[in-house]
Amino acid sequence: MALIPFPLARPFLFGLEPEHAHELTMAALAAIQRTPMIAVVSQPRVHDPVSIAGLTFPNRIGLAAGLDKNGRCIDAFGAMGFGFVEVGTVTPLAQPGNPKPRLFRIPEAGVLINRLGFNNDGLAAFVANVRRARFRSRGGILGLNIGKNAATPIERAVDDYLLCLDGVYPHADYVTVNISSPNTKNLRALQSDEALDALLGAVQKRRSALAKQHGRRVPIFVKIAPDLDAAQIMAIAACLQRHRIDGVIATNTTIARDAVQHLPHGNETGGLSGAPVFEASNRVIAQLRAALGAAYPIIGVGGVMSAADAQAKIAAGANLVQIYTGFIYKGPALVEAAARALRAK
Ligand SMILES: Cc1cc2nc3c(=O)[nH]c(=O)nc-3n(C[C@H](O)[C@H](O)[C@H](O)COP(=O)(O)O)c2cc1C
Repeated sequence: MALIPFPLARPFLFGLEPEHAHELTMAALAAIQRTPMIAVVSQPRVHDPVSIAGLTFPNRIGLAAGLDKNGRCIDAFGAMGFGFVEVGTVTPLAQPGNPKPRLFRIPEAGVLINRLGFNNDGLAAFVANVRRARFRSRGGILGLNIGKNAATPIERAVDDYLLCLDGVYPHADYVTVNISSPNTKNLRALQSDEALDALLGAVQKRRSALAKQHGRRVPIFVKIAPDLDAAQIMAIAACLQRHRIDGVIATNTTIARDAVQHLPHGNETGGLSGAPVFEASNRVIAQLRAALGAAYPIIGVGGVMSAADAQAKIAAGANLVQIYTGFIYKGPALVEAAARALRAK
């Protein structure tokens, strides 16, 4: 399983059904993460501190949300050298997600397609896992990503986000409001002007109350889709500033299929991640940077498959970079290589 180095484990894992491979790996990492056996997957954490949104990130490379939805393996990912780890998306109540199969590899194109649908064990289990992790006390930055249950009507979405915000607030370095998964019905409609205004207004108000209660102002980031036109991006940027949101994460997966239509699984429904998202998400990052100015925190994510891609994300306008699909295909070595390449810049 994951108890052998990635280059040896990869052929075995890629021979398995993708979600099964994921579950086996997560179980192995959870079992060893706070034991000496974690040395098998450990790597040095590149020292390249950078201050963004009032937080000091030990380096610029982070794990993107969705790989560790329940926050089970935070210390294992910390040991692999990530400067920051984002876990979730968590929803208030546990939910099973969509029927299987719902996760597909397209290795020829460096792609995953998923329609998991926020399968997770719910807020209480998530917080219990997060509290056990030692990553933060070792200088890592922990992001907690929140969403809504599938069964909650979209008109009541704000209630779910506020419930999650209350629960995760004391345990987070930052909180991400995820409004960009394509796999929860109508979720991305929250990116539209009026809905976003209402959601972010409510989040900001609750954050003020929580900041007083806990004596700490936790930065809030909003995560958006790559499938937005320039006018929509401008409207979102204005809304982020209006509600004093601390940063933006760009981007989530895409619903576009141009790059993979001809390949096996290329027409599966869901969110596509990996190499083909790279240009689309860079375009969103560049437009956000132009709209938000030089000082606004932007976390770039989408299609980083190499150290050079991470450099290009920074060149497009990101302050920090997250990785998901590149990590599945290239393994932990990509984390250290990308962090080193950014330090050398
Ligand atoms: C299987 C899978 C599950 C994901 N789940 C989530 C999620 O729960 N919440 C979220 O904000 N993003 C989720 N994402 C999106 C990633 O965090 C990331 O934004 C996207 O995959 C683009 O980056 P990448 O090309 O490096 O994978 C998921 C991605 C994948 C591949």
